Amino acid sequence: MKTIAVLTSGGDSPGMNAAVRAVIRSAGYFGYDILGIRFGYKGLMEADFVRLQSSDVSGIIQRGGTILKSARSEEFHEKEGRNRAAENLKKAGVEALITIGGDGTFRGATLLAQEHGINTVGIPGTIDNDLIGSDETIGYDTALNTAMQAIDKVRDTADAHERLFLVEVMGRDAGFIALETGIACGAELIILPEKLTHIEEIKESLNKVLKVQRRSTLVVVAEGDHTGGAIELSKKLEPDFKQYDMRVAILGHIQRGGSPTAHDRVLASRLGYEAVNAIHNEKSEVMVGVINHDVKITPIKETFGKIKEINFDLVELAKVLR
Ligand code: F6P
Repeated sequence: MKTIAVLTSGGDSPGMNAAVRAVIRSAGYFGYDILGIRFGYKGLMEADFVRLQSSDVSGIIQRGGTILKSARSEEFHEKEGRNRAAENLKKAGVEALITIGGDGTFRGATLLAQEHGINTVGIPGTIDNDLIGSDETIGYDTALNTAMQAIDKVRDTADAHERLFLVEVMGRDAGFIALETGIACGAELIILPEKLTHIEEIKESLNKVLKVQRRSTLVVVAEGDHTGGAIELSKKLEPDFKQYDMRVAILGHIQRGGSPTAHDRVLASRLGYEAVNAIHNEKSEVMVGVINHDVKITPIKETFGKIKEINFDLVELAKVLR
């Protein structure tokens, strides 16, 4: 019987458990054995393996985090680390590897495939949504909703004190979370890494916004923005906006946690199945995704090779509605 291994790697994202569950149940459906790898590539180099069966994934579809655990591994960047990983897979009789994660995870999978001929299939799991080949990545929708709910709460206190708030959201170098939560929360200004905004321009926009009578002013800042994030931006604004009682809120890792939304659970379930189906159809070095509601298979190198564009229509919309 064919053995497939599965791991989750890099920053966890809500819905990874739903994807693991779908992989294991689908493997059973196709008649494959499944080996779970704990702690991503780190666990792969240490042969931290666990045999998994259908009953092991009962009751996890609604849980955040990942039962397989995750890690970011420096050692796997070294050839020697990857040699050990490949050896462990071969010893365990693994014929194909499913990796659930973001661009770093897929870069690792590509190297394993190229250097050791390991069949790999990727499932996009990251809150950042920065991979080509899927309209959305698993965890993005949940992170959006978590950030939105948190920012709504910030808005309440901002309104009560009539304050100016800078709220920083995650996304690494991408502004997807900032853009969509900004719109969903009616932010007066959204600062994105995809748009090089000079500090003078930000000041000008902020002055325009502040001229209009409002109960509060909310600026959503992507952590990867050129200004350096919300704290740095607040320092740059402070001298000119002293009269406003400015505060900074950094949402941080709460955006990675929590129970996945229905949208993420369904996406993860579909992609978990499609990953096993791709292996069944002897595909390798590909990522499974959903584009315009349909399943799409993309060569894995393309998914992180190019920059996924944000929707600039939404950027314009945010300006009209502020
Ligand atoms: O890639 C997911 C992500 O949450 C990014 O948005 C963020 O920049 C990064 O991971 C944080 O990583 P860590 O949990 O290692 O601090």
